[in-house]
Amino acid sequence: MSDKLKYNPMDAAALRDPWSGYASRRGECPVAHVSETEAPFWMFFKYADIRRAYLDNKTWTARYGTSPVFQKSIGFVADGKEHTEFRNIFKKRLSAASLAKFEPQVRELAERQLDLMLAKGTYVELHDDFALPFPVAVVSLLLGIPSDDYHRLKRWSDELMDLGFGQDNAAFLKVYHDVCDFFDGFIEQREALLAKANITEPKPAHVGTILPDDWISDAVCGDFQGRRLTRPEQRIALMGLLVGGNETTTSLITNLMWRLLEKPERWEKVKQHPSGLIPIAIEESLRCDPPALGMFRTSLCPVTVAGIEIGAKQKLWLPNGAANHDPEIFTNPEEFWLERPADELARHMAFGVGAHSCPGAPLSRMEVKLVMEMFVRRMPDVKLDGPTERNVGFNFWGRKKLPLKIG
Ligand code: HEM
Repeated sequence: MSDKLKYNPMDAAALRDPWSGYASRRGECPVAHVSETEAPFWMFFKYADIRRAYLDNKTWTARYGTSPVFQKSIGFVADGKEHTEFRNIFKKRLSAASLAKFEPQVRELAERQLDLMLAKGTYVELHDDFALPFPVAVVSLLLGIPSDDYHRLKRWSDELMDLGFGQDNAAFLKVYHDVCDFFDGFIEQREALLAKANITEPKPAHVGTILPDDWISDAVCGDFQGRRLTRPEQRIALMGLLVGGNETTTSLITNLMWRLLEKPERWEKVKQHPSGLIPIAIEESLRCDPPALGMFRTSLCPVTVAGIEIGAKQKLWLPNGAANHDPEIFTNPEEFWLERPADELARHMAFGVGAHSCPGAPLSRMEVKLVMEMFVRRMPDVKLDGPTERNVGFNFWGRKKLPLKIG
């Protein structure tokens, strides 16, 4: 492999500041090969190449998994009609109409978590005291599981995400089995309710009637290719939803507050025009600091990009972060800018693009809008109170420490 193709997104400088590396690669060679990892992969750096690959499912598939290791095709990790049908079982709970129904409960969860944080006094830790537990509580509500043990749910969610990247298969399997046992308990409760009602063929109409109105019931009653989901499909769906909705939304909250408070004049502006500026600030945070820095695909056939030949069955990391900082698309991309034009904001790729783009986007936007409105109202004089620290893992970008002074 030629030296000009080498790049390591895991070296200390790239972890500290991924953006400079992306910028220099765009100028030198917009394709790289990462071989320092257990499982090697390719990377693109230009918005146009990244977007094209996301949308070209004939060349780049999600069927072998969206991590650097090769996985079995199941559930969300599939292509075409099979993937769309599976995704639709769970996506309908994330539609605007369904979310409107949940909004009062989500608001109440946010108010309650904020009460707990503010009760701690003047000095708080935004990540631990709010940004971590709140999304866990929301995802638990939609799943239909209790969230009181959010430390365990969060630990599982983090471990599934980190260990799924292939470093330690035995450790991954241990967590995987624990989480399977946990979800199996809830699935079996729903099956017992159906049996009690003499229902031998569960149908979507039983969700919210015989069974509680939540994702566990969707997993039990969902219609997939004319049949019910198998137990492994049910488990993988529930795990995907648990993992998908946690760390990402936590990072959106901490990244956004960090950018607003590091320049107090930004916070002042948002406070003066919350209804207009909160939605813009959320989109600019997603663009400038995407919580998922990238997603993986696998090549189905040989392909040439920017003059570089890539063979079949090669893993590719599509860095949403590099796309979102491409100066061909975004004016002064390194700047967090509350005045960024709407047409630029609409082009960010924080939620991916195409068939696998994030079905949870409307939920996390709703959560974070409610939260920001509450922060403006209930802690208007908040300030940063010390240095922030980034989370671990080259694929994620968020603050795992954000100390605040409330008043
Ligand atoms: C700020 C918050 C979030 C960010 C930045 C984010 C980011 C992403 C991205 C980039 C993808 C695309 C994956 C790909 O193309 O392979 C994705 C997919 C997904 N996300 Fe999210 N996500 C967020 C919130 C959520 C929430 C709240 C949920 C649900 C509770 C969720 C569930 C999922 C699921 C199930 C997928 C897989 C979809 C598929 O393959 O069809 N995400 N997310």
